[in-house]
Amino acid sequence: MRRAKISIIGAGNVGATCAHWCAAAQLGDVVLLDVPQTEGMPKGKALDLMQASPIMGFDSNIIGTNSYDDTKDSDVVVITAGIARKPGMSRDDLLGTNAKIMTAVATEVKQSSPNAVVIVVSNPLDAMVQRAFQVTGFPPARVVGQAGVLDTARYRTFLAMELGVSVEDIQAMLLGGHGDTMVPVPSCTSVGGIPVTQLIKPERLAEIVQRARVGGAEIVGLLKTGSAYYAPAAATAQMVEAVIRDKKRLIPCAAYCDKEYGVGGYYVGVPVILGTGGVEKIIELQLTAQEKADMQKSIDAVKELVGAMGKIVG
Ligand code: LAC
Repeated sequence: MRRAKISIIGAGNVGATCAHWCAAAQLGDVVLLDVPQTEGMPKGKALDLMQASPIMGFDSNIIGTNSYDDTKDSDVVVITAGIARKPGMSRDDLLGTNAKIMTAVATEVKQSSPNAVVIVVSNPLDAMVQRAFQVTGFPPARVVGQAGVLDTARYRTFLAMELGVSVEDIQAMLLGGHGDTMVPVPSCTSVGGIPVTQLIKPERLAEIVQRARVGGAEIVGLLKTGSAYYAPAAATAQMVEAVIRDKKRLIPCAAYCDKEYGVGGYYVGVPVILGTGGVEKIIELQLTAQEKADMQKSIDAVKELVGAMGKIVG
């Protein structure tokens, strides 16, 4: 059987760490690409990772490159390219620079891997995935954004820390944009099957939700030189696995919603079934009036961001 081919565009911390998780899980062969100005950097990281394979026992081939020719006919393309946040910056502050980078990358991906499922990770996520969709012209099911898996992972981590239980027993769902307006759904949060509302008081739960909302900024503030990468890369690898192994995972992703949730043609975080075809289904939850209002606020924030991106040429 042919091994799957996974190309990762952007060999910075998120890209390289994603290559690491994908290789370690033996999801396929990995191509790590960065712009020509970085010269040997992606090659160096790929070779270093490859040399871990006899120790860790994985058979993936990993190559680093500056040329899209090496990414030809990938099954999955992960786009992490773009600048990261520094302390005091919001994800939206990255819009101008990263929209231009995304246009250039998506133009190349369209040519080199016309049948790939594209997973966008660059920030501001909801706008970047919209641009990748517009530029590639791929069907919406094959362009998807990573945000919800990371955001729910943060939320699940904080819930596990609060309750002193295994993270494995915590199930959770968050909706909306990858930003401060993301919407937790308490009715979809459970611990070993027990609704979280039976275990944590509403005021404390609200504090935990807030910490998850600003979880990225907490890490930026600590690192001072960039943003989080272990958890964002692990979240992305989980999505790559869902596609490569056709796992039909039901997870929150930034998906193209038209009629769904009354969004009207934008990417927002929603529960989806992710498999070989990409986003195979969007699940519409029954929301309370408060959750609906919060979701609408988040959708409006995404629309505003995409509107601002429309003014950026290139
Ligand atoms: C974060 C960035 C990567 O949430 O969006 O950490």
